[in-house]
Amino acid sequence: MNNLLLNISCQDDKLKENTLKELSKVCSQCKACDLSKTRTSVVFADGNPNAKIMLIGEAPGADEDASGKPFVGRAGQLLNTFLIEAGIDRNKDIYICNTVKCRPPQNRVPSNEEKQACRAYLIGQISIIKPKIILLCGATAANSFIEEDFKISQIRGKWLNIFENIDTMAIFHPSYLLRNHSLEQGSPRWLMKRDLENVKARLSVL
Ligand code: URA
Ligand code: SF4
Repeated sequence: MNNLLLNISCQDDKLKENTLKELSKVCSQCKACDLSKTRTSVVFADGNPNAKIMLIGEAPGADEDASGKPFVGRAGQLLNTFLIEAGIDRNKDIYICNTVKCRPPQNRVPSNEEKQACRAYLIGQISIIKPKIILLCGATAANSFIEEDFKISQIRGKWLNIFENIDTMAIFHPSYLLRNHSLEQGSPRWLMKRDLENVKARLSVL
């Protein structure tokens, strides 16, 4: 199904911009799941719609719900640090969004029903943006596209063949890295640094 939807083509930048705006507008009024009852804002996306990288996180937290922008809280700030270190410009090189667009109460993991309800927006974003690289940030995002059971620590850092013509990699979620401070060789932060260096290297040849 993913590849079928990804074949929808946008002929020019204006059409792309308008299609994205339209999707964002529909999403901003969405009541397809119960998260609509507790949210302050729908957090659709941030960054450059023409970027080669699309990063998909889990769900908005409190800061994102308040501001309407993804990855602006503590986890987002740590992510920014890693991106800067790898030479990836968050505003220029990345379009950033989440698996579900509304904050789950107490930041719980979104349910399968909520993920399913929100999926059309995510698939729509991928279809319109047409990234060359997708980063599945954390287990929730990776779960949405990988059916087999997996541990994020086992699949992260590998180029996965999920979408036609899009190099896809799962990476650690920065919230996990907030709880793991070690920089030692083989530690989660060390691996995240290496993964993003690989992404940067791939980006440079695209
Ligand atoms: N965590 C996420 O997965 N997404 C955000 O936008 C913020 C924190
Ligand atoms: Fe709609 Fe997604 Fe928000 Fe649920 S989480 S109300 S499906 S936008």
